[in-house]
Amino acid sequence: MARIYLSSPTMHGEELQYVNEAFEKNWIAPVGFNIDNLEKTVDEYINVQSPVKYRTLAVCSGTAALHLVYKVAGITKGTPVFVSDSTYCATAFPITYEGGVPIFVDSERDSWNMDPEALEKAFRLHPEVKHVVAVHLFGTPAKMDELMDVCSRHGAVLIEDAAEALSAFYHGRHCGTFGAFNAFSFNGNKIITTSSGGMAVVPDQASWDKVMYYATQSRDPVPWFEHKEIGYNYRLSNVLAGIGRGQMLHLDEHHALKKHIYETYQKGFEDLPLTMNPYLPDTEPNFWLSCALIDRGVPVKPMTVLKAVSDEANAEGRPIWKPMSMQKAYEGSELVKIEDYPVGYDLFDRGFCLPSDIKMTEEDMQNIISTVRKCFGK
Ligand SMILES: Cc1ncc(COP(=O)(O)O)c(C=O)c1O
Repeated sequence: MARIYLSSPTMHGEELQYVNEAFEKNWIAPVGFNIDNLEKTVDEYINVQSPVKYRTLAVCSGTAALHLVYKVAGITKGTPVFVSDSTYCATAFPITYEGGVPIFVDSERDSWNMDPEALEKAFRLHPEVKHVVAVHLFGTPAKMDELMDVCSRHGAVLIEDAAEALSAFYHGRHCGTFGAFNAFSFNGNKIITTSSGGMAVVPDQASWDKVMYYATQSRDPVPWFEHKEIGYNYRLSNVLAGIGRGQMLHLDEHHALKKHIYETYQKGFEDLPLTMNPYLPDTEPNFWLSCALIDRGVPVKPMTVLKAVSDEANAEGRPIWKPMSMQKAYEGSELVKIEDYPVGYDLFDRGFCLPSDIKMTEEDMQNIISTVRKCFGK
């Protein structure tokens, strides 16, 4: 029986055609028609309900996309930034690349994302802060109305880390079309992939030009190489963008399959002492990862379940992302929280991510479900 991964790439055939086209036309470079087409396609996809017409710029990773938008948003040496604590390291690392100072903000329990109440408290403690980065964890939309309201009352810029959330909707609008600047990831494990890749999402041509400038070594528009500022070589390859073009044809299909996985687990676990990762009314997560939170006081540990899933169902799960303020890399950093014991720490203690690969069969899922059920004596 082949190993089932947490969330591995799923190719369909068109990807290779576009890659081949890049080879045939010899556009093996970080410029070309696949990049232009991918950007245009994602622009059209995300902007359907958005009052602002966002523009995307394809880069070599989601981390690079975040780094670029942080620069353009003005995060620099010593800039304090409120950041979701429960997230993947790449939300915070590029702030640190720039010498900014992340101040972590705890999660709420309704979507597992940044708690607007904790954010409000953070502004009471640090009224000088002007930048907020909120993640949509596991593809589940954060409380955008409340977060945007807090940010606008304090005159702060909101940036969405929508790395995990392409095709997730909040009140009918795509995640990644709310913040001043935003980012998606096309890493191999994401809902669609370019192997490695990502996109900066910006609200106007001027910021697109600025992101492009930093992504291409801050080169001035003269015939020789002229640089007044430090830049980066972050553009996506035209070969890899071909994979993305093919994947975009299947994004909605991937979304539907991810949702089916979530609902299958939810049904299979109905009578177990656990809850699935929750989402808010009038939102549509992309269900990138299905997760579960074991009820308080139940003597079953997430690692026990994950080991059983691995050994008995030959499938990969993972603990919930370990909060940034718990990481050695951010030792001594500040965490703003409402509950005495942080919500993010509690999610990490009691939660786990289930295998969420869209190539799983019904039989695979039922096998994982019965393995998990056995851990709870069912
Ligand atoms: C929340 C979050 N932010 C940022 C990233 C960074 O994306 P990438 O791996 O494409 O650099 C990821 C994914 O890996 C992520 O999950």
